[in-house]
Amino acid sequence: MNRRKFIKQSGVAAAGTVLLATPFAAMFANEDNNKNNKKMKIVLITGSPRRNGNTNHLAEQFTRGAEEAGHEVFRFNAAGSEVRPCIACDHCGMDGPCVHNDDFTKILRPRLVEADMVAFCSPMYYFGFSAQIKAVIDRFYALNGTLHTYKKCAFLMAYANTSAQDAVAMNGHYRTIADYMGWEDVGSVVAPGIWTAGSIKGTKYAVQAYELGKSL
Ligand SMILES: Cc1cc2nc3c(=O)[nH]c(=O)nc-3n(C[C@H](O)[C@H](O)[C@H](O)COP(=O)(O)O)c2cc1C
Repeated sequence: MNRRKFIKQSGVAAAGTVLLATPFAAMFANEDNNKNNKKMKIVLITGSPRRNGNTNHLAEQFTRGAEEAGHEVFRFNAAGSEVRPCIACDHCGMDGPCVHNDDFTKILRPRLVEADMVAFCSPMYYFGFSAQIKAVIDRFYALNGTLHTYKKCAFLMAYANTSAQDAVAMNGHYRTIADYMGWEDVGSVVAPGIWTAGSIKGTKYAVQAYELGKSL
């Protein structure tokens, strides 16, 4: 199946489910909230296992800014949560119940459905997202159709090297997900040259994360 068909089929499958499960007005609630600059429900997904690490600091700064701007931030730490990898059983039909009854299903899934915005915050691991956050993203599959609705999204990341070229793949991955989901990117913080845990503190990237949250 090519990408266009993948989108079309998952969207059609989802439409039936959404129409049955969601009150008509609620289907447009996310879009209205975002466009009118009302208080948003933001889901922030972090991917680093380092508690005092760099991207967790970006997450804290982003949250501080967003909360000051009047938004509600629900943070889900992929590292430290039980999130089993998608096993491609297709039980969900790309928009239904998942066979895994873990933290994704019990905690994150309902928050994602009602979120006006999703922020991804991850260290670079071998030029991509960390495995912890990637497992979360793959689990989007079970609500793929439902997530194909207007939301805002943002991207925060840090990596040790200083080459901008090294960040192209991860940045492209984020942008491709946003494009596929139909989500509007509202900003990124890309922090090169950040290696040891906590070295991002006091840098311009920490300020950028705060300002990104505050700008929402
Ligand atoms: C498994 C692993 C893979 C990494 N891969 C890269 C990489 O491909 N490029 C890079 O510049 N830094 C890489 N790093 C360094 C981290 O991206 C960097 O230390 C980052 O600041 C960690 O963020 P954190 O403190 O939020 O975990 C890697 C680190 C680890 C542990």
